[in-house]
Amino acid sequence: MAESLLRIENLGVDFGGVRALDGVGFDLASGEILAVIGPNGAGKTTAFNCISGLYAPKEGRILYKGRAIEGEKPHKIARLGIARTFQNIELFGKMSVMANLMLGRHLHMRTGILSGMALLGPSSPAAREEVRHRERVEAIIDFLNLEAARDAFVANLPYGTRKVVELGRALAMEPTLLLLDEPVAGMNPEEKQDMMIWIRDIRDLFGVSILLIEHDMQIVADLSDRVVVLNHGRKIAEGSADQVRAHPEVLKAYLGDEAAP
Ligand SMILES: Nc1ncnc2c1ncn2[C@@H]1O[C@H](COP(=O)(O)OP(=O)(O)OP(=O)(O)O)[C@@H](O)[C@H]1O
Ligand SMILES: [Mg+2]
Repeated sequence: MAESLLRIENLGVDFGGVRALDGVGFDLASGEILAVIGPNGAGKTTAFNCISGLYAPKEGRILYKGRAIEGEKPHKIARLGIARTFQNIELFGKMSVMANLMLGRHLHMRTGILSGMALLGPSSPAAREEVRHRERVEAIIDFLNLEAARDAFVANLPYGTRKVVELGRALAMEPTLLLLDEPVAGMNPEEKQDMMIWIRDIRDLFGVSILLIEHDMQIVADLSDRVVVLNHGRKIAEGSADQVRAHPEVLKAYLGDEAAP
């Protein structure tokens, strides 16, 4: 088997008396779209928070390209090539779409944002670097059809558009691994369709590996290569969408005891 891009081993997280993750482990191969599903409170977002460095797990290891990253700071993990979106959108509302995406590029910048042009003139190295980053961001705005919104304050945009901007901000980081926490939640059917096409393209065209939290089983089946199912902090199943859909433990987790065989 090819070496995993991401390997989670025996992850354990406690919040007071709540065991949010308990011995969770799974692998994500390079180029894979792996879905993480499970009922509310299963521990899906907590797993993302551990991978992206927001939480240090109490137990277990997180190996990215073979290197242990558990407990590392978020900016360091981002620099290694892991970007994420949040279940509750986290953007700067009083900044434009363009400015939010430029912040996504911050980790690639040698000089401070916007520092070069004003202080050193348009032909300074800092100004040229700024132009290069702007071009990258313009390409992402183009890819995500955000031209009409590029100069708008994020707070003034409809919810579905803000979800797209958040994807854009993550893409601006040029990740190797993208963590998407419910990227289509709350979207209308057309927006969902667009988002699904983008997610597939991000993998197929840009070679980005994707870990995806999603509740809609049809979307999971359409997008993902494999599925991991969590319930009450534990992994209860893993396999193809069809395999996990038919798994007795999964039916029980979603439907209650009446679904048990
Ligand atoms: N910061 C926190 N402080 C205390 N408890 C937390 C915290 N974050 C998560 N939890 C608890 O940990 C458990 C797992 O939560 P988590 O957010 O990971 O679930 P989830 O699978 O993402 O659920 P959902 O589908 O509702 O988003 C829940 O019982 C939740 O209440
Ligand atoms: Mg969640």
